Amino acid sequence: MAINFSLYYRTPENCDYLKKVITSSRQGKLVEAKPLAELPEMVNSGANAVFLEYENDDPDLDQWIKKTAADHRNPPIFLYLQEITTEQLWKALRLGVKECFVFPIRPEEFQEALDRLPVFPIEPGAGDPTRVVALLGCKGGVGTTFMAVNAAYLLAQEDKGQVLAADLDLRYGQMVYFFDAKPQYTIVEVIENADHLDHSYLQSLFYQYDKNLQLMPAPLRLEDAEIVTPEQLEKVISYLKKLRAFRTIVMDVGHQVDEVALKSLELADDVVLVTNQMIPALSNAKKLLEVLQLVGLENLNLQIWLNAWQKHGDLSLNDVAGFLGREVAGAVQFDLKESTRSINEGVPLAKLAPNLGVCRDLQIFAARLGGKNGQDKKASRWGLLNLFRR
Ligand SMILES: Nc1ncnc2c1ncn2[C@@H]1O[C@H](COP(=O)(O)OP(=O)(O)O)[C@@H](O)[C@H]1O
Ligand SMILES: [Mg+2]
Repeated sequence: MAINFSLYYRTPENCDYLKKVITSSRQGKLVEAKPLAELPEMVNSGANAVFLEYENDDPDLDQWIKKTAADHRNPPIFLYLQEITTEQLWKALRLGVKECFVFPIRPEEFQEALDRLPVFPIEPGAGDPTRVVALLGCKGGVGTTFMAVNAAYLLAQEDKGQVLAADLDLRYGQMVYFFDAKPQYTIVEVIENADHLDHSYLQSLFYQYDKNLQLMPAPLRLEDAEIVTPEQLEKVISYLKKLRAFRTIVMDVGHQVDEVALKSLELADDVVLVTNQMIPALSNAKKLLEVLQLVGLENLNLQIWLNAWQKHGDLSLNDVAGFLGREVAGAVQFDLKESTRSINEGVPLAKLAPNLGVCRDLQIFAARLGGKNGQDKKASRWGLLNLFRR
């Protein structure tokens, strides 16, 4: 699919140069080219991206960039500069710019930026409603992050829209390691801007893992977890839902049940309680179900998933369901060697070795999360049938 550019340049020579950069890329196409002196009030509505040659010390230009970036109907802005300082880079990000390029632009660098461009609906509210899914572990180590990461990856692979993997295990979040991602920003910057959220700015804060998958990492420092309050988290998630830029938001809530975790569950359309078949995990799961009832969250759309499932373990599926007094939605089989390898390599197992049995279970799990309401029952039976097949 072509990516249509509107180009605004300072000098005719640079216009030619930038034109060449755009048209030499795989998808780039030029639909408009104007000198900065003729910068239009509104960006051409046929453009998917703006390429603008930046001019220092021009407050009007800064204002134009800020205003254009803040309007969700506008496409992302790429800046071109002769050279750039860290200060200018920060300024550009604050203005809402998506990418900055310095002379000479390497073709691979430009292509990578194009590949990073999410296929966002231009009009906010034009996309499908966002489905928010929260995964809560009943105990550390049951594989909550493993399931969240793989589900987010698989949902993004469906290529039906953007997926956001949000690490809400605020103190010990480890999602970045599972993706071997080295993001510049975390949820801290998002929360700090919770009162003046803006589409382009958020896009610059989220880490684009691949075409359809973005990450919002947990804080880097333990003490920064305090920055995230339930109220601000609600603002961010509500804003994202209103924006409809994401098809699914997968939240790894970790296993600590604090105010932020409860708020995450409340904000979710689906809650997954992750456990394994060991007595300590199962008794925690039971306690958690009771706590949710106590705090008035008994009506959550909650499903219980078993991870690291061993068919020939001490407890059968019936034993587990009987013990919890709840149906088990499905299970992901035990594979210590491969799950450890994928975590250590920082590649989701569903990407690293999609044909493993454990990945087939993860696919069923992801399909169940992405399912429309009407399909839930069917998906649930698939999950269980799969269990009995083994
Ligand atoms: N299906 C599985 N089979 C065997 N081991 C698993 C499975 N899923 C995860 N693990 C292992 O469990 C450990 C903890 O996983 P993690 O996702 O970090 O748990 P949590 O987020 O609940 O603390 C990892 O070392 C991983 O190798
Ligand atoms: Mg975890």
